[in-house]
Amino acid sequence: MKGVLLHGGLGTRLRPLTHTGPKQLIKVAGKPVSQWVLEDFKGAGIDEVAVILGGVAPERVVEYYGDGSALGLKITYIYQGYPYGLAHAVYIARDYVGDEEFVVYLGDNLILEGIKKFVEKFSDSDADAMILLAEVEDPRRFGVAKFDSSGRLVGLVEKPKEPPSKYALVGVYFFRGQGVFKVIEKLRPSWRGELEITDALQGMLEAGFKVDYGIIGGWWKDTGTPKDILEANRLLLDQKVREALIEGNVEDSSVEGRVIVEENSVIRNSVIRGPAFIGSGSIVENSYIGPYTSIGINCRIQGVEIENSVLMDNVTITSLDYRLVDSIIGSGGVIRKNSNRPRGLRLFLGEMGVVEL
Ligand code: DAU
Repeated sequence: MKGVLLHGGLGTRLRPLTHTGPKQLIKVAGKPVSQWVLEDFKGAGIDEVAVILGGVAPERVVEYYGDGSALGLKITYIYQGYPYGLAHAVYIARDYVGDEEFVVYLGDNLILEGIKKFVEKFSDSDADAMILLAEVEDPRRFGVAKFDSSGRLVGLVEKPKEPPSKYALVGVYFFRGQGVFKVIEKLRPSWRGELEITDALQGMLEAGFKVDYGIIGGWWKDTGTPKDILEANRLLLDQKVREALIEGNVEDSSVEGRVIVEENSVIRNSVIRGPAFIGSGSIVENSYIGPYTSIGINCRIQGVEIENSVLMDNVTITSLDYRLVDSIIGSGGVIRKNSNRPRGLRLFLGEMGVVEL
């Protein structure tokens, strides 16, 4: 089975973080969201993956993952550019997948239990497609499944105002054969101007193709908003950091609980309380790093208290009077005390930046 990872889109709801790079490269618990996805492919025995690139700094994705060998994968890049929709992104992978079974994974989706058992279920079945569903409180921001009274899947609707069930479509789709491509060829853009994968699946049902489904019991997250990023970071730190791993230098500090301190980093005169992640080359001095904080690589944190936050790479934070909580700071961000006159807040914020004091 081959994998197709969707790495395009505009990431509008995550601006300004996504002005300079794709949203799937945002790091949670120390790794880009799409790396968690690629590792899930690998764990499920899928070694060959096509990465669909969008128009926002696609070269950064290629630079980060290269040929995939560092993750034990063989990665092929397919350029989509403008986000014409998930079905369009799948369609441009048709030559890549050829006659093989394949699984499409949205690069902003995180599934704690992983896809391995569903890969096995699909391999053992004779279905033309298989979708994954998860029960959610408010399904209106997702594709939603419709069942008949005997529990048979009879329809799929994208972001309905009145959801026909509580079962949302998770961003993982399995296919075999050319059926899905034939249906996509006949699709029309939806109200949001996209060729929807949900409509393609609906079309497959209508054309009599066999569409199976699996239900995700555990935690699943579409990391589309800042709140989702913080929640994903919390859960991944909780579930994936099973024990402390200290590779950097710890001097005159207390490191408590499940904390990862990567190589070439320095923790000096500080308290780190896990679960937490501190990336390579970072310096933490005279600071308190509280639970559920992830700090990227080459950051400088001095005289600061931080909790439940995500700092990307190359962030500098020094001498704050406030404790930083529930925050996301993009790459290269600087927060420092202003001791020059005139005193006051001096802000240099990207589009849609948010400051809460
Ligand atoms: O997360 C699950 C949901 O994902 C499903 O319940 C929906 O049925 C499905 O349509 C999708 O909805 P979203 O509105 O969340 O999709 P989004 O536009 O965020 O795109 C999902 C991923 O695919 C994201 O990583 C960006 C990428 N993408 C998106 C488009 C439109 C592409 O690579 N190319 C595209 O053309």
